[in-house]
Parts: sequence; C-alpha cells; structure tokens
Amino acid sequence: MLSIAIDGPAGSGKSTVAKAIAEQLKITYLDTGAMYRMVTLNLLNNKTDMDDIKAVEEVLEQIKIEFRPNGLFLNDEDVTTEIRNNIVANHVSQVAAIGIVREKMVAMQREIAKGQAIIMDGRDIGTHVLQDASFKFFLNASVEERAKRRLKDFEAQGIEISLEELIADIQLRDEKDSSREISPLRQADDAILIDTTSMTINEVIQVIIEEIQS
Ligand code: DC
Repeated sequence: MLSIAIDGPAGSGKSTVAKAIAEQLKITYLDTGAMYRMVTLNLLNNKTDMDDIKAVEEVLEQIKIEFRPNGLFLNDEDVTTEIRNNIVANHVSQVAAIGIVREKMVAMQREIAKGQAIIMDGRDIGTHVLQDASFKFFLNASVEERAKRRLKDFEAQGIEISLEELIADIQLRDEKDSSREISPLRQADDAILIDTTSMTINEVIQVIIEEIQS
C-alpha cells in the first residue's frame, strides 16, 4: 500500500503540497498538524492548565477529532478556520511536546493509515509515525521565505500581523519543535530533502510526483 510521509518546519509548504498530491494520486490526505492544533484549541477553550497532565488526560479522553468532507470538526464543531489563528499557533508546540498527547495522536494517525493509500504531513511522520513509508520527503525553506508565506495566508484572511512578528514566531516554534524530547522535528535518514525557498508550489509537487512515479 502506498504511503507518503512529508515532514518539515512551519511554512515549508508541506500541507499545500501534500493536499495537491493527494488529489492528483487520488489518495487520502492527513494533516497531522491540524490534529495537534485541535487538541490545543480544546485545551485553550477549557482553560486547562497545560502543565497538569491529569487535566490534559481528561480532555484527551473526551476529545472527538473528525476530518469531514466539509471541514475539520472538534467535538462536533467546525474549527477549520479557528485552529489556524495565532493564539493556537503560539501554544501548539507546547501541547505537541506532551507525551500523552503524542501517543493518542500517533495511534489515531496509524489507525487512519491502516488499509488505505495515504499521504501524511507533519514533523515526525518519516521518523516515527510511518517509519516504513514508501516515500519520505523533508521540505525546508529559509525562515524569511516561510514567514512571507504565512503573512500572505494571514493577509488573505484579513488578519494584520507584521513580518518581523511572524519571523520571531516561526523561529520560536522551530526551536521548540526541534528540541523537544519526544519525536522532535528531524529529517529521517532515508528522506529526500527539498529546499523550497525559491521553488513554486507546482515545482515542488512535480519533483515529488516524478520521484514517486520513477
Ligand atoms: O504543521 P502545523 O504548523 O499545522 O503544525 C502545528 C504544530 O503541531 C507544530 O508546531 C508542531 C506540531 N506537530 C507535531 O509535533 N507533529 C506532527 N506530526 C505535526 C505537527
């Protein structure tokens, strides 16, 4: 069964690329970052103390995460847009570093991957979740370029934020995601590195498709 792992830091283009490849190859796409964002939103909404493991565990026991055709649903509420806001973005690295959160998300991700062709994007897909993936790619780009891409996304949503602020946020998130103890952001030894700094999305998609079909 075909399985493709796409990892990389925030703003490296992996979600856009993975989604487009899923459409071209007619396979399932799973955005694992969205899952950590949904857990984060749930904890923020409940005002859960994120250092209180028992309290986090209670939220995890009740959580319902669904990828419906019309959006991402958290406990039956459409949170597709909300999980992309800056408050969630600024807390998600902390949440993604919690062991019990990762255990639950990884179990869900592996369950979804069972028995179907899939492309998954995240931070630990090639190194952990799908260690035996048929293909592994690691996307990267300069911090400035990644912040510019995020700025465009925010501008499209009518949200005002400065490039400097985004650069600082991204650097901080990279640092937290790469230095955490459990499954840190890392390129798998057998992953193909693609530097997307001066590439268009279509060029990146092309490189990946060619590699898969070669
Ligand atoms: O890809 P993203 O920006 O939506 O991811 C949100 C956060 O979730 C990111 O800071 C790191 C974390 N994450 C993770 O730890 N493991 C994954 N497989 C996916 C995301």
